[in-house]
Amino acid sequence: MAKKKSTAKPDKAANAVHADGAPGIDIGISGGDRRKIADGLAHFLSDAFTLYLKTHNFHWNITGAMFNSLHLMFEGQYTEQWNALDETAERIRALGFNAPGSYAEFIRLSSIPEEPGLADAADWREMVRQLVVGNEAVCRTARKVLATADKAGDDPTVDLMTQRLNIHEKNAWMLRSLLQ
Ligand SMILES: [Fe+2]
Repeated sequence: MAKKKSTAKPDKAANAVHADGAPGIDIGISGGDRRKIADGLAHFLSDAFTLYLKTHNFHWNITGAMFNSLHLMFEGQYTEQWNALDETAERIRALGFNAPGSYAEFIRLSSIPEEPGLADAADWREMVRQLVVGNEAVCRTARKVLATADKAGDDPTVDLMTQRLNIHEKNAWMLRSLLQ
């Protein structure tokens, strides 16, 4: 019996059937592209989580004449950021990969340094400066993921990164304005 010839290149990751019988992922994005996008999103999630924690840290530890306005401003920002983390992690899952979810992974994957001691950052200007830098770092990572997702035709990730860029660029502007 002659075998049928196929010119289509099978996507092993997409066509794989799991041991438990669940079908492989075949959403119209190759396994390689899904991996690249998920990898970028893991970096984005780690940056976003680190910035979220830093913003919450500063909400708790802010002192001085600017206490009330910055305490509230930071609260608004970290609350919005916290809710967005879930969407990013779940996008990684929808692409077929595991989302990082431990401090060790976030530290390894993030481009934003943590703020371990507060003695040096007790000045509100230093806190605001660090949050400007952090929001800008998140934007740079989001732009990279957006470009990768756009090339692969992954519209939901493009949409998510566009929304996050809108928020983090706005945060950076508002924080930067405090220092001008
Ligand atoms: Fe609070």
